[in-house]
Amino acid sequence: MTAVLALDGVGRVYDSPAGPVTALDGVSFEVAAGDLVAIIGPSGSGKSTLLNTLGLLDRPTAGRYLLNGEDTAGLPEAARTRLRAQHIGFVFQAFHLVGHKTAVANVTLPLMYNRRPRRERREQAEQALIRVGLEHRLRALPHTMSGGEKQRVAIARATVHEPLLLLCDEPTGNLDTDTSATVMELLGDLARGGLAVVVVTHDLAVAEAADRVLRVRDGRLTEVGAGRAGND
Ligand SMILES: Nc1ncnc2c1ncn2[C@@H]1O[C@H](COP(=O)(O)OP(=O)(O)OP(=O)(O)O)[C@@H](O)[C@H]1O
Ligand SMILES: [Mg+2]
Repeated sequence: MTAVLALDGVGRVYDSPAGPVTALDGVSFEVAAGDLVAIIGPSGSGKSTLLNTLGLLDRPTAGRYLLNGEDTAGLPEAARTRLRAQHIGFVFQAFHLVGHKTAVANVTLPLMYNRRPRRERREQAEQALIRVGLEHRLRALPHTMSGGEKQRVAIARATVHEPLLLLCDEPTGNLDTDTSATVMELLGDLARGGLAVVVVTHDLAVAEAADRVLRVRDGRLTEVGAGRAGND
């Protein structure tokens, strides 16, 4: 089976007034459909650069990045934008919901530009909310929801177009321990449904809920450990 994503010797050097900064150096790994992978590492180690690279928001200065078998490095920006819109979903620490819109309206937003009738888009959004366990909160407004519920809406919004890859930057950063565990369980369920999920986190307990843990230090992958899979 083709890996959803494959990095091969990826490097990223930033130009800065103080000289070049190596943010990523010789990073190689693959993530398959069904994988839940955590990325951990100290501040400044290159996690955001790595996630931005995976999300096609940043280009490597060395190596290859294959998304769904397609080499992305040399693609023009418009093609990268199209690949991103089609195959990738993003979840952030702050939920970024539109406050005056209901859950289902928030989740319908990314479908605004597809040509399906409004009723179908709404149904698709409802299905995404049902997948994250919010069938009872379809019409709820964000200020009436708990942090965990808001993050579920954000996850539904990030997956409503049925991407191959879900990228999460500190998705539990605003949540308490129990809620964090529930959100990781949900991400695990989505992975088992066939999605590839990558989570950047500072929280070791969160990382341990993943199938695999990649540790980044000074731009290099220093350790590839087992998460949940290794604890059985
Ligand atoms: N636009 C930029 N220009 C120059 N250097 C940068 C730029 N962005 C990041 N860096 C540098 O690249 C390295 C990796 O940064 P990155 O933001 O990827 O780290 P991080 O692991 O996400 O850190 P944190 O945990 O604090 O979010 C750091 O040394 C950082 O200072
Ligand atoms: Mg960061």
